[in-house]
Order: sequence, then structure tokens, then C-alpha cells
Amino acid sequence: MPEEVATLLPLLQNRDSFQVGPFELHDGFLDGHPVTLAVCGVGKANAAALTQAMLMHGCERVVFTGVAGGLDPALSVGDIVVSSDAVQHDVDVTALGYELGVVPGEEGVAWTADQQLAAIALEVAKEVVPDANVLMGRVASGDAFIADDARVAELRTRFSAACAEMEGAAVAQVCARWGVPWVVIRSLSDAANGEASMDFRAFTQLAAGRAEKVVRGVLARLSSERQH
Ligand code: ADE
Repeated sequence: MPEEVATLLPLLQNRDSFQVGPFELHDGFLDGHPVTLAVCGVGKANAAALTQAMLMHGCERVVFTGVAGGLDPALSVGDIVVSSDAVQHDVDVTALGYELGVVPGEEGVAWTADQQLAAIALEVAKEVVPDANVLMGRVASGDAFIADDARVAELRTRFSAACAEMEGAAVAQVCARWGVPWVVIRSLSDAANGEASMDFRAFTQLAAGRAEKVVRGVLARLSSERQH
């Protein structure tokens, strides 16, 4: 969402903004690191389309950030989930004998995040947001805003997911097909329950700010590793 990159965009130096179909991409330097920043909009189709555009533009690693609804009862608003892997909870080809969530032709139910990116994101998140609970866990993506305890229980039981959002696993699927490393970093805006829609509005700013801090920390760590 625009409010999720609003804090990063003004920090981009030597900014070159250009249009790729419906998407506005921004090349530039963030704290000295070359990046391409873009807003994808809501949902799996937008996420897949933007990811494809970014990979065709030459992006070599994808860090997807934003807010999510918490599913793990240990997590509260403002806490952070770094993806171990991601599933598409709304894919259902069970009538043809596939396990729920499996996209025919893909390997297994989940796409695995890049382990180096995820390990760095986890460490950095703990460092730069010390008052948040930070964990590595499964991201459940689907074209639905989850705001219901029964759905939370279902996503926990079926997928052992730590958080619910609407894009991550689509980014993961496209990156996996291209062989490009990816990670999703989500800060929680709500608990995906009956209060989720109110909490989402109230806490998105806070949660997005936290995600931004982690992205900057990850970039700093990646470039210092390149130099060693
Ligand atoms: N993004 C933020 N909160 C969410 C929720 N509860 N469900 C899906 N996506 C979200």
C-alpha cells in the first residue's frame, strides 16, 4: 500500500521513477544501496504482476514488506514475522486429489524463503525493533482479509501459519520460478479477529514504520557482507 512505502520513498537518492504498465517503479539509492522500490497494491494478482515487472527490470533479490494479521497467539500488534516459507491458503484443487494449498505443477504446499535473507532479516529486526516480539514463521497468503477467529484457527491448524496477508506467497511463487531469492517481512497491524478491521486502520502506520526500519537494516547488512 502507498502508506507502507511512504516513509522509504523520500529517502531514495538519485531517484529515477518510471512506469511499467500500471506500476510505478523507483530506482535509486537507499542509504547508499541500489534499490528498486514499488507499491504493488492489494492481493496475489497485483503482487505477482509487480514481481514479474521487477524481475524483468533486473532485480536480483526481492524483499517484500508491509503489514499482516497475526495468527500465532504469541504475537501482538507491532510484532514482526520474517518468512520461513509462504503458502497460498486460498488455493483449493482438492477435488483433483491435491492437498489444500498446493498449486498443481509446483513442488509442495509452501515456497521456501531464501535462508540467508531470512536469517539476516530476523537478526536485524530483533536489533532495530527491540521492543517487538520477532519470529521466523510461515506466511499464509490469500485474497481475503481475515477477521474471524474460526478462520484464524483453521489457518493455524491446516498450515501452522504465523500471520495472514494477501501477497507474500504470490511474490514467492514468481521468484521461485525465476530462481530469485526472496523474503517477506511483515509487521502485525491486527490479530485477524473480530477487531481486525479497526486495528488495521489504527496500527498500519506503526507497523509499516517498523517494517521500513527492518528493510534499511537488511540492506545495510547485505552490503557489509558483500564487502567482506
Ligand atoms: N493484512 C493486514 N491484516 C490482515 C488480515 N487480517 N488479513 C489479511 N491481510 C492482512
